[in-house]
Amino acid sequence: MNNFTYSIPTKIHFGKGQISHLSELSESGNKVLLCYGGGSIKKAGIYDEAVKILKEEDMEIFELSGIAPNPKIESVREGVKLCKENSIDMVLAIGGGSVIDCAKVVAAGACYDGDPWDLVITPRWIKKALPIYSVLTLSATGSEMDKFAVISDMSKNEKWGTASDHMKPKMSILDPEYTYSVSKKQTAAGTADIISHICENYFTNVKNADVQARFAEGLLKNCFKYGPVALEEPDNYDARANLMWTASMAINGMIQYGAEVAWCVHPMEHELSAFYDITHGEGLAILTPHWMEFALNDDTAYKFADYARNVWDVVNDDDMAAAKEGIAYTREYFKKMGLPQTLTDVGIDKEYFDIMAQKAADGCKGSFVPLSKEDIVSIYEAAL
Ligand code: NZQ
Ligand code: ZN
Repeated sequence: MNNFTYSIPTKIHFGKGQISHLSELSESGNKVLLCYGGGSIKKAGIYDEAVKILKEEDMEIFELSGIAPNPKIESVREGVKLCKENSIDMVLAIGGGSVIDCAKVVAAGACYDGDPWDLVITPRWIKKALPIYSVLTLSATGSEMDKFAVISDMSKNEKWGTASDHMKPKMSILDPEYTYSVSKKQTAAGTADIISHICENYFTNVKNADVQARFAEGLLKNCFKYGPVALEEPDNYDARANLMWTASMAINGMIQYGAEVAWCVHPMEHELSAFYDITHGEGLAILTPHWMEFALNDDTAYKFADYARNVWDVVNDDDMAAAKEGIAYTREYFKKMGLPQTLTDVGIDKEYFDIMAQKAADGCKGSFVPLSKEDIVSIYEAAL
């Protein structure tokens, strides 16, 4: 296990009715920028609930709305402008990962003199951010409890993740009931995203980080168990609650600290979104089984066999055979969840494979199995 410094400073209020804790925002001042997406929070009544509580606290509310999935830099710039013009004290994101990510970079951009895109490209330039609060409405990214934000500039086909401890939310409200209205498509995609985050951390070359590995296997089991339940019964509280808490735990550092590894499926997927604006979790569901098949070899079979035996209960003494069974189960699972199986299914052909692979290869340095540009092209081709 590697050395690490544990730091997960986000206060979580988890469960039914926890939105009442929005009253705590007054500890950070009285001017809040409320960030949200295309309107799902209004339909679900969360917007009204939130505004009522904030008004009871005499908060002055400014709004940044219409934040799109795969949030765009234009929304960030608009939010930063609002913050600077109105001396905003804090940001409150109500939504999924896109809204929270956008709010995070707005919060950082409000404390920076240049263009906020600089902070996406050069994370170390984030020296400060306004306090960030969130109310989560979709279980997927874990943005509610992590330091990351992913922003796109479609004019350049760029989608990059940035990260800073300053962007870890100060407080997040996780009410599983708020995810009852998430569509089947987004529920499946969100679950695939959670699975990918866990796998990205789990497939590491750091040896004997058993706490992290066994924890990760438990989290994976939750996804495989509760994903289909949430699809069939959208208002099953236990399914939604377990997915929600699993999403946060998958990426908040708990299974990563001490077992650090570069992620590689995410950089490959971010290129697909940068060029085609596809749903992040769908891209991951398409690529993950192909990445697993590519990464499986005599040296890595032991790890895939652990995955197969401890997550899928595969009984097979031969590592390679067990590994293959585990990968087959994974592919079958994504199919059962109604997720797309091929790049063609989401309208992607091979036109940009070379350029996407080149860009992704930079991000994959230091991953479990090193991937060259050519390797990535071959994974894309297998997924066509
Ligand atoms: O815009 P609204 O109207 O809110 O609708 C959204 C959106 O259309 C809808 N939705 C959200 N909550 C809902 C709901 N619909 C009904 N009921 C609800 N309760 O779902 C759609 C997708 O929302 P989005 O926020 O885009 O989804 P997700 O949470 O999957 O976020 C995806 C983004 O996060 C990035 C991805 O790349 C992508 O840009 N990621 C962020 C990470 C992080 N910050 O740590 C890590 C991830 O790996 C990921 O890259
Ligand atoms: Zn992800």
